[in-house]
Amino acid sequence: MAVTLEKELLCKDFLTQQPKKLLIDGKWIPAESGKTFETKNPATDEVLAKVAEGDKVDIEKAVKAARQAFEKGPWRKMSAAARGRLLYKLADAIEEHAEEFAQLETLDNGKPIRESRHVDVPQTVETFRYYAGWATKLEGETLNVNDNFFNYTLREPVGVVGQIIPWNFPLLMAAWKFGPALATGNTVILKPAEQTPLTALRLGELICEVGFPDGVVNIVTGFGPNAAGEALATHMDVDKIAFTGEDKTGREIVKASTVNLKRVSLELGGKAPNIVFADADIDAAIKGAITGIFFNQGQVCCAGSRLFLERPIYDEFLSKLTHQANSLRQGPGLDEKTQIGPQVSKEQLDRILSYIDIAKKEGASLACGGERPAGELSRGYFVKPTIFKGVQNSMRIAQEEVFGPVLAVIPFTSAEDIAEQANKVTYGLSGAVWTKDIKKAHRLAAQIKAGTIWVNCYNVFDPAVPFGGYKMSGYGRELGKHAIELYTNIKSVWVNVAD
Ligand code: NAI
Ligand code: MG
Repeated sequence: MAVTLEKELLCKDFLTQQPKKLLIDGKWIPAESGKTFETKNPATDEVLAKVAEGDKVDIEKAVKAARQAFEKGPWRKMSAAARGRLLYKLADAIEEHAEEFAQLETLDNGKPIRESRHVDVPQTVETFRYYAGWATKLEGETLNVNDNFFNYTLREPVGVVGQIIPWNFPLLMAAWKFGPALATGNTVILKPAEQTPLTALRLGELICEVGFPDGVVNIVTGFGPNAAGEALATHMDVDKIAFTGEDKTGREIVKASTVNLKRVSLELGGKAPNIVFADADIDAAIKGAITGIFFNQGQVCCAGSRLFLERPIYDEFLSKLTHQANSLRQGPGLDEKTQIGPQVSKEQLDRILSYIDIAKKEGASLACGGERPAGELSRGYFVKPTIFKGVQNSMRIAQEEVFGPVLAVIPFTSAEDIAEQANKVTYGLSGAVWTKDIKKAHRLAAQIKAGTIWVNCYNVFDPAVPFGGYKMSGYGRELGKHAIELYTNIKSVWVNVAD
């Protein structure tokens, strides 16, 4: 397939050293079983690399290493400033290899290179820098009790942390997890998604190079159920699990966590309402709707997958939106011109196609897309940008997470009950409102039950701003100072100072 990558392929060396190994206690080792699995290029269905298939025994080793590093290693004694410096060095190292990371991410996940270059990699760098700064800003308190006692609190790391991440933002999710966990002095075991293990492994190499002590960061590639993921979630010596992925898996993780009542934070799915009022800047809202659903091929937990349009603008909006969706350039991610790439895997492609069938059977009608592209692209896991009109909020296409480039468009007439409709869904991760009426915007922002609300914008992120869900979108907040809470314990110390 002809691709027009204008730069040299910088991740070639990394890809030729195979099979990829596990990072345990500062060393790269094969899985105990010797097994490997394949990770593919979703644009072509070709195998990119063989990767060690870590399992329960490997998790066992990684937890031992992380425990040892937490209790006894130099990490525990290192000053906060030194911890921060390591994170800054890591951020610099990623930045130096930015193009290589962008290419590797695009090859493994499928996303357009312009997105890897301008979103995933720079956001990863900024996340590490943001948390590098936090290392020296952690504080306890002194509390006014009575004259006989002095009380103070210590903010301590939770300990050994398991982090299980998905395939939609493989490198960035690793940064969201590592940044706050390491800034606060924990040791970690990361289980990357089996579909996209490569950038986390390359990150592991840089973590070793910049000088994190052995065992502080361990990376075990492998599968979830009855495998590495589950072994981590059920482990008695893991103090906390941070998980991002499907709500169904989230429930499994919570059940597994009960063995030792480890702490859990969950960032799960969404079915975000993207609400456009007739008084909005329509062109801006169309752009927002496009980004909302087609960014990263719709494989975004906060995707604006339910588009509510106020009746008076419904026809005009839909026709302009459809036109723009049809003109998105679809192709392999490595092509500089590509605006929408393939889905991550055959499983996800099939899931999306089945939701397209479901929507048709429910009586929604296609405004565009709804099928795979023909020709060269049929080798990869591509689905055309798809818009369903005539959707009712109660339909499965409006209630369940498709996780693909499939938009459900729903007209509304009453500004009064739009919040109620928007909230009629099990998820609550995000939502957006488009209007020039400042009162309406703030009212809706307060009424929508979701962790993030965008007003006249979509998909805006910053490492300083918390992100997480209401309802079945999970609990705990990542990013910002809120993620510090996820990775620390508060201890109160009573000192008898009575005469
Ligand atoms: P998943 O939730 O099964 O996988 C995410 C991670 O969890 C992977 O690392 C996987 O190996 C691990 N995992 C799976 N089962 C596990 C278990 N029992 N114990 C411990 N770890 C386990 O998501 P999957 O199957 O890749 O995608 C299915 C659907 O989930 C998608 O179609 C989408 O709707 C949703 N999803 C949501 C994401 C989000 O960002 N909220 C990200 C990825 C998927
Ligand atoms: Mg799964």
